[in-house]
Amino acid sequence: MSDMVKISGEPQSVDALLESYAVGPGPVVRANFVTTLDGHATGGDGRSGSINSAADKQVFDLLRALADVVVVGAGTIRAEGYGRLRTEDPAMLELRRKAGRSDHPVLAVVTASGDLPEKVLEPDPDAGDLLVLCASAVSAELTERLGDTAVIACGADTVEATVAVEELHARGLIHVLTEGGPHLLGAWLQAGVVDELCLTVRPIIAGGTGPRIVEAPSGSELLARFDLQHALAWEGDLMLRYVAGRV
Ligand SMILES: NC(=O)c1ccc[n+]([C@@H]2O[C@H](COP(=O)([O-])OP(=O)(O)OC[C@H]3O[C@@H](n4cnc5c(N)ncnc54)[C@H](OP(=O)(O)O)[C@@H]3O)[C@@H](O)[C@H]2O)c1
Repeated sequence: MSDMVKISGEPQSVDALLESYAVGPGPVVRANFVTTLDGHATGGDGRSGSINSAADKQVFDLLRALADVVVVGAGTIRAEGYGRLRTEDPAMLELRRKAGRSDHPVLAVVTASGDLPEKVLEPDPDAGDLLVLCASAVSAELTERLGDTAVIACGADTVEATVAVEELHARGLIHVLTEGGPHLLGAWLQAGVVDELCLTVRPIIAGGTGPRIVEAPSGSELLARFDLQHALAWEGDLMLRYVAGRV
């Protein structure tokens, strides 16, 4: 575990948050999730939007601002109603420009079925580009709709995590953020491609039987182990940044 654990109860300025979440010049794959105290990844409405908070949203926006590409599973795209990504906060826009990034992050959607909602397929000139990381079985159909630069086959029947990350890197998209969901995170943890997990723990109990942040087959071995980089306590939420350790 890291020697320094930073606890602060105060709302964080953009600069202070940036110091806590800065990325280095090299490639990184980060995951960002929110969970309730009882381990739920969604509220009763089946969305993570109903369990997040203003503080969590600030970290969420910052992590997006530090990413070249945001990778999201098709299940989350469908459940949360994702469209292409747009940086609206002027402070985040400034951060992106200072770092030499495009104004808006690329959205990379992971799908085996190719079943994507119209909202994400529709071009949006005021938002970031769309990439679809798909199984080769559905790539021809998606290419017909989106053009061949937007569609990347990363496996026969599924999307291999290592191939997906290599393909993003090959396009200069080295700071990779995944916002989930649980099946995608499970597959990427199994493949060992996740370098960091940023997790907000909300001080609420959802009850019921909603999903946890990881859906993966249980086995006799640990899926992953992380070391704590920092812990920020902020407006009742715990903002945790973990880096991949050894299983
Ligand atoms: N708490 C949080 O931070 C958080 C974050 C994200 C999502 N969520 C919640 O999680 C729920 C969705 O859960 P989910 O597990 O269904 O989300 P998901 O992982 O985003 O979606 C699963 C779907 O994504 C595609 N997919 C994921 N991994 C794949 C792989 N390795 N290869 C090919 N396709 C892959 C498949 O799409 P196809 O079916 O198109 O083949 C699969 O059915 C929603 O309720 C959402 O609100 C919570």
